[in-house]
Amino acid sequence: MGCIVDGVPAGTRPDLASMKEDLKRDVPYPVLTRRVEENRMRLLSGVYRGRTLGTPISIIVRNSNVESDRYKLIAMKPRPGHADLTYRMKYGHWDWRGGSRASGRTWAPMIPAGSLAKQLLDLIGIQVSTRILILGGVEVEPKGPNNLRTLIQHLAKEAESTGDATGGLVELSISGLPGGIGAPWFWRFQADIGHAILNIPGIKSYEVGAGIAAADLRASEFNDDLTWGSDGSVRGRTNNAGGVLGGITTGAPFICRFAVKATPSILVAQRTVDLNGGEVEMVTEGRFDANFTPRVQVLAEALAALVSADHLMISGFLPHDSVIPYEERLTYTKVEVD
Ligand SMILES: Cc1cc2nc3c(=O)[nH]c(=O)nc-3n(C[C@H](O)[C@H](O)[C@H](O)COP(=O)(O)O)c2cc1C
Repeated sequence: MGCIVDGVPAGTRPDLASMKEDLKRDVPYPVLTRRVEENRMRLLSGVYRGRTLGTPISIIVRNSNVESDRYKLIAMKPRPGHADLTYRMKYGHWDWRGGSRASGRTWAPMIPAGSLAKQLLDLIGIQVSTRILILGGVEVEPKGPNNLRTLIQHLAKEAESTGDATGGLVELSISGLPGGIGAPWFWRFQADIGHAILNIPGIKSYEVGAGIAAADLRASEFNDDLTWGSDGSVRGRTNNAGGVLGGITTGAPFICRFAVKATPSILVAQRTVDLNGGEVEMVTEGRFDANFTPRVQVLAEALAALVSADHLMISGFLPHDSVIPYEERLTYTKVEVD
């Protein structure tokens, strides 16, 4: 699996350790999956002597745990809920091994790419984080009996006996964003983040701030009253807007939530068609994720960081070509003496 990250300014020092840490979060709870990859990454270009060159950075993450034969089943019998059917419709000729590009696995290199973006955001005090609000239909209580670890153990056990999968609801927040980022029309900040999040396989909803609850609120309840912050900034007393007004950030944390559907490939018999004719019952043989919500967290953070970094560059809050001041570039020697 590979990706090319374009637009990282020259002179930054990629923190490989945190890229590797993020990659570990690809499978944060091995108990929920039957596929755990080694996830070793390699940078092929764009970095010289520990610092970025401003040129495209290519990253590869090799698959080390491949069982293509298991997917023979789906070559002519599309899995309900998966993309086998639509890939057929679009391409006719497709590589069914591993589920092709519809596999969540193809997103692995996006994780270190996102780490690079997170490191850029770090330079100006911006943090992206996620938390799971609902898992397997149960509200997560950070300190209660339904805490995340207990729920995960429970879901893993349940999936082991039923062969069925579950989904979840995730909240993503971006804190430290300055006000004024985004654009009023096609590049609305929340639209760009939503475009990225909804591109992650298996995401079925996206809401910002009060979200769907806005349908039931009066304006007097929804509107965030304004006040002066202690630092002289104008801020909302509440954050129903989710940190954006008119597509432009307010300076409050950007907050969104999205639903992750239950893993489509399950060990329960489901009805499908045989593309050679007739209908059949199928039980998927491939590797089965009882719930991939925790795996989506690091991906969503990566994408939100990449989109935010682009917006911050456009608005001039992050440098685009180089982090080395213009006056120092001709005589810059740190790379040589490192
Ligand atoms: C990190 C990650 C892991 C996933 N693991 C699986 C899996 O093990 N089995 C499966 O059937 N789908 C898995 N999916 C979901 C499918 O990729 C997805 O449902 C499919 O591509 C169809 O796309 P759609 O759900 O957006 O319509 C995973 C998705 C992600 C993001």
